[in-house]
Amino acid sequence: MRLRDALRRGANEISSAGSDEARLEAELLLCEALGVGRSRLYQQLNSEILPEASAAFERLLARRLAHEPLTYIIGRREFFGREFEVTPAAIVPRPETEALVELVIQFARERFGGSPPTIADIGTGSGVIAVSLAAGLPGANVVAIDESADALNLARRNADHHEVAARIGFLRGDLLAPLGAAVDIIAANLPYVRTPDWEQMPPEIREWEPRSGLDGGADGLRVIRRLLQQAPARLRPGGALFAEIGEEQGARAVAGARSAFPQASIELRRDLAGRDRVLVVLT
Ligand SMILES: C[S@@+](CC[C@H](N)C(=O)[O-])C[C@H]1O[C@@H](n2cnc3c(N)ncnc32)[C@H](O)[C@@H]1O
Repeated sequence: MRLRDALRRGANEISSAGSDEARLEAELLLCEALGVGRSRLYQQLNSEILPEASAAFERLLARRLAHEPLTYIIGRREFFGREFEVTPAAIVPRPETEALVELVIQFARERFGGSPPTIADIGTGSGVIAVSLAAGLPGANVVAIDESADALNLARRNADHHEVAARIGFLRGDLLAPLGAAVDIIAANLPYVRTPDWEQMPPEIREWEPRSGLDGGADGLRVIRRLLQQAPARLRPGGALFAEIGEEQGARAVAGARSAFPQASIELRRDLAGRDRVLVVLT
């Protein structure tokens, strides 16, 4: 069988399993099986697939057809222009979260200019936010906190890989409790899925991603509200908090922020799809 035919068959099967990106996913799995990049795959499409590569592709395909997310199968994901290792210890990083990183970098540059801020990334998971901020803000010191030891180990490997580990401290614990001193910026992508919505999630999420990273209680804001209550004591004057939220949670998130920070300027910012995505509290 030619690579072209293996690819077509794989894409059809992945599509039947419900993916909207079946062709791309099949290409990436075939690349993984062959140990080549996508441009190399395209050059070889008319070649015969060797038995060993064919068997490897079948194994990867079977995992994807069992609804395992592509990111966990190939073990990596691009985020904010960098490649990150991702395992089931952490959720699959979402493109929406890049909006939060962008906002924090912009705020830090405008507010702190030459003197780099201290930043806490709460619920760091694979470390995509902490690493992207440390890399995008030279000199900034970051504290990455998660309640999961496995997630912290993963985040540490990503920080090592991107050579920013010297400026990131990794702490295990609940929200802001492990923080020693107040910081200039709190960035958080904490669980915000409503519990009643969990059972309706696609199997890729419900059966494979850690529920502790996604389920935010009855209205989705249980963890974020606790963060807001803790934050005033942990933010330096002139500091800011950025929290990712669900697109329908804006009004309730603003109300929670207003009760924790009565004097602050509070805004909602949108992601690239135009949906409310980041709660911003400027003290
Ligand atoms: C939505 S995931 C975000 C992961 C990563 N920051 C990202 O954007 O891809 C939320 C993370 O928060 C962590 N988490 C949940 N509740 C927590 C808590 N109370 N204290 C600390 N971390 C928590 C989970 O373990 C999970 O890694």
